[in-house]
Amino acid sequence: MLTLLKMFVMRWGAWCLVVSLSGASLPVTLAPASDDDLVLDDSWARVPTGQTGYVTRAALAELPGARTVMDRIWPTAAAVEMTVVPLAEVIAALGPAAHADGLVLRCSDRWESWMPFDLIAERDPYLLVYYEGRSPRQGAGWPTFLGIEDLAPYYAFVSPTRHPDFIDQTDHGMISATQIVELGVAREATRYAPFHEGPLATLDGLAAQGRALFLARCNNCHQGPGEVGGNTSQRPLAILQVHAQHNPDHFRNMVADPKQFYPETIMPRHPEFTDEHFAQLIAFLTATAE
Ligand code: HEC
Repeated sequence: MLTLLKMFVMRWGAWCLVVSLSGASLPVTLAPASDDDLVLDDSWARVPTGQTGYVTRAALAELPGARTVMDRIWPTAAAVEMTVVPLAEVIAALGPAAHADGLVLRCSDRWESWMPFDLIAERDPYLLVYYEGRSPRQGAGWPTFLGIEDLAPYYAFVSPTRHPDFIDQTDHGMISATQIVELGVAREATRYAPFHEGPLATLDGLAAQGRALFLARCNNCHQGPGEVGGNTSQRPLAILQVHAQHNPDHFRNMVADPKQFYPETIMPRHPEFTDEHFAQLIAFLTATAE
């Protein structure tokens, strides 16, 4: 018992040391060193309210937990040498606000992702810092994601080698995020409070299921109530409400196969959606309009 306790205390002590060391070794500045820096919003304890923080790529690569591994950038890619830093360590080194329980990743295309800390602890996603020793701007740069979109300036992903069965999709969208420019932290209950307020506080089954579906499949690109979420679509929620309420057939066709209306759109098809899924989404969007 005593030995166990001692081990625990030692481990805990070592862990605290790592955290405080890494905290000390990740300098945050309030002015950018270059436009290659990772941006921090003022939700971090180390960024004063109303200001913006910056960390350099080189500083991220110097965190004690940063390592150079042979891994694949997604399951079907070839293994290459990458310098990665666990996102958990970046968070610990930055010192999140005490109340926070998740990470917000904002991307240059206005895509926004939410990663609960417990999911980060479970799957240990990496932040890619150097690919074959290069930043995205050096030499041949970084590859594009499935030949479609840039990974740069920062890319977060779960190692397909370490977690071959990992499913990228969560209740709040995708875990991997390309084109990350800015990180923030928040408390889930606070961040998503507008999804549960006013008429949304008492949603019935169908609309409540629609809320979960919207969070999982739409909110990275479409802001929900309270303008929470990503805005890649650049369509305010009111537009979705109007379609859902007054033009449900078009809403359905659009969500099932957006490329028939916008051939170049990045909005994915949803061929697997059933009548039930559409009824849920329409019930939820109608409720948000009340
Ligand atoms: C990867 C990003 C992305 C995801 C995920 C996504 N959308 Fe979109 N959506 C867009 C973009 C971008 C547009 C605007 C069309 C364009 O110009 O490409 C759009 C347009 C729309 C429109 C039409 C608005 C109009 O002006 O006619 C509807 C309705 C819509 N989305 C609903 C949804 C719903 C519901 C979901 C979830 C099931 C969803 N979208 C998921 C990116 C996305």
